[in-house]
Amino acid sequence: MNAPRAVFAGSGIAVPPLAIDNATFARVLDTSDEWIRERSGIVSRRFVEPGVGSSVLGIEAARAALADAGMEAGELDYIVCATMTPDHYFPGVGTLVQEGLGIPPLPALDIRQQCAGFAYGLQVVDALIRSGLARNVLLVGTDVHSALMPLSPRSWDVLLGHDPGPLDAEELAANSRFRHLVVLFGDGAGAMVFRAEEDSGRGILGAVLYGEGAHKEILHVPGVGSARRPFVSIEQIANADVVPVMHGRHVFRLAVTRMPEATRELLARHGYGLDELDLLVMHQANLRINEAAQKALGLPDSKVHHNIYEYGNTTSATLPLCFHEARAAGKAPPGSLVAFTALGAGLHWGAALMRV
Ligand code: UT7
Repeated sequence: MNAPRAVFAGSGIAVPPLAIDNATFARVLDTSDEWIRERSGIVSRRFVEPGVGSSVLGIEAARAALADAGMEAGELDYIVCATMTPDHYFPGVGTLVQEGLGIPPLPALDIRQQCAGFAYGLQVVDALIRSGLARNVLLVGTDVHSALMPLSPRSWDVLLGHDPGPLDAEELAANSRFRHLVVLFGDGAGAMVFRAEEDSGRGILGAVLYGEGAHKEILHVPGVGSARRPFVSIEQIANADVVPVMHGRHVFRLAVTRMPEATRELLARHGYGLDELDLLVMHQANLRINEAAQKALGLPDSKVHHNIYEYGNTTSATLPLCFHEARAAGKAPPGSLVAFTALGAGLHWGAALMRV
């Protein structure tokens, strides 16, 4: 008998209601709508209220995906969660999602491949179901970037319109040090549910994944880890070692080459040509990256989907958020061939293939 396949059963998303547009960012740092829009394609992003962690969005997206799949949470027998912004240093969000769904204990796995987390998660789900270890699996991608942003409570109040401002020149300059970073990211979550079914050609078909530590320093948080003792200190905070370091140009160059390479390799491995692909879901880090990747692959606009303009970069949530909305737009009907590709900190990158 053939191994069962991980067949897509439903998807759901959770985005906070609070949207902040580019012009509003100019209240707290030196930027403009024109710069952000031209360089990244981002128009607005969503932020949670203070104290709302990644698990809260993850649980909401999971509930929506389960409802879409027509599955009760109690039918799940495995949870895989991708996030780089867990509610706590430990534990991760896996067991928080299990608890939030109100279901009995089950394996709850956290994976942290940052922007490539969901693509890695698709391979994990595929392996769990093919091997017979699980039959109904929930895959969640959730990130709350607002917590990572080095803005003071006053700056947040001004940004959110609770305080008319203006900020003094010193605070404006301090915030502007991170302007290449904070305007790009947003909070959000997406989830997909998979069911074991007999092989009918549908389901996750495979993945091509890579990790390369040589590039670890182009995108990382220097502090808050076991390489420091204590793992976080006043000095680290004062030095901004708790804030991500991102060499944007370097990441950009790698993304525009490696995402198309991985997509080509994946399709070739499965015997498909680019013309047979119905939809490519790309990580939403920068519209310019995705336009270049689309061009490199020669794909028409109808075979890609973008929503970065509305949500910014939501890290591990971008792939399920984008897939869910592409599906709603009719771009991923049952039977369609969909590839997912992403690149992020680690360096981790790759692509995964699914027959919806
Ligand atoms: O999810 C994976 C992780 N991240 C990525 O994939 C990010 C990949 N990289 C990028 O998306 C782009 O490199 C960025 C959008 C981050 C930056 O765009 P860029 O065209 O590479 O700009 P740059 O960093 O070379 O900066 C150009 C100028 C600089 O000013 P000077 O030195 O030319 O005077 C920056 O200080 O733009 C300035 N700048 C800004 N100006 C207004 C940087 N951030 C801002 C800002 N507003 N928010």
